[in-house]
Amino acid sequence: MNLVLLGAPGAGKGTQAEKIQHALNIPILSTGNLLRQAVAAGTELGRKVEALLDAGSLVPDELVCSLVAERLKQPDCAHGVIFDGFPRTLQQAQALDGIVHVDAALSIEVDDDTILHRMSGRRTCPKCQASYHVTDNPPKTADVCDKCGAHLSIRHDDEPATVRSRLAVYHKQTEPIKEYYSAQGKLKKVQGQPKLSDTVRLVSEALGVAL
Ligand code: AP5
Repeated sequence: MNLVLLGAPGAGKGTQAEKIQHALNIPILSTGNLLRQAVAAGTELGRKVEALLDAGSLVPDELVCSLVAERLKQPDCAHGVIFDGFPRTLQQAQALDGIVHVDAALSIEVDDDTILHRMSGRRTCPKCQASYHVTDNPPKTADVCDKCGAHLSIRHDDEPATVRSRLAVYHKQTEPIKEYYSAQGKLKKVQGQPKLSDTVRLVSEALGVAL
């Protein structure tokens, strides 16, 4: 299954992707994680995109699309992929349709005030990219990743002003993609605002997969 996860920054795409990954045994392709890894590694791509990520602006379509196309050549993508944070523009959605057959697009719906609360409490693992929240989804030991033991950190782009910019970019450039998938009969929507366990249940029902 090729599944696209849509939703505002902090809607919970990464959190749900991890759960779906275990249920379906297919990899997550997170363009945000790939771009942050390029920045951390100091590659040419990383140097090109660092300022855009810090500002919460979108990276140019051609850079992101070629990153995705390269990742999809890996053998672990042969039986399906969970796309987290891609596509983010209509051009990216059309480019993806030229590479793979998208089976479904799941939109996690969360209002902007809830997003601002969530991002202020998010902690992420710089090593395995797992995502936590200090009160809503805490790790077993404060500031330590449950999965790999690394010290958790706060993402550069989680500053409130940057989150507001990312939300504006989302509403203008990414939200119209919902209509693109709706017109193809592929869009499913779930409310991402209740407790995490409620969201997992709704996602499980929407996809028909036990999570
Ligand atoms: P990216 O890394 O994709 O960030 P994003 O889409 O802004 O999404 P996030 O990773 O911030 O949030 P999420 O929805 O995964 O939420 P999470 O599960 O962590 O992109 C970063 C940047 O890279 C972009 O700004 C752009 O510059 C660039 N980029 C990436 N892809 C691109 C593309 N395709 N084109 C161009 N540029 C691109 O959850 C958030 C928090 O909420 C956590 O603390 C979590 O524990 C908590 N939480 C989750 N679900 C719930 C729930 N149901 N109830 C309560 N708490 C919850």
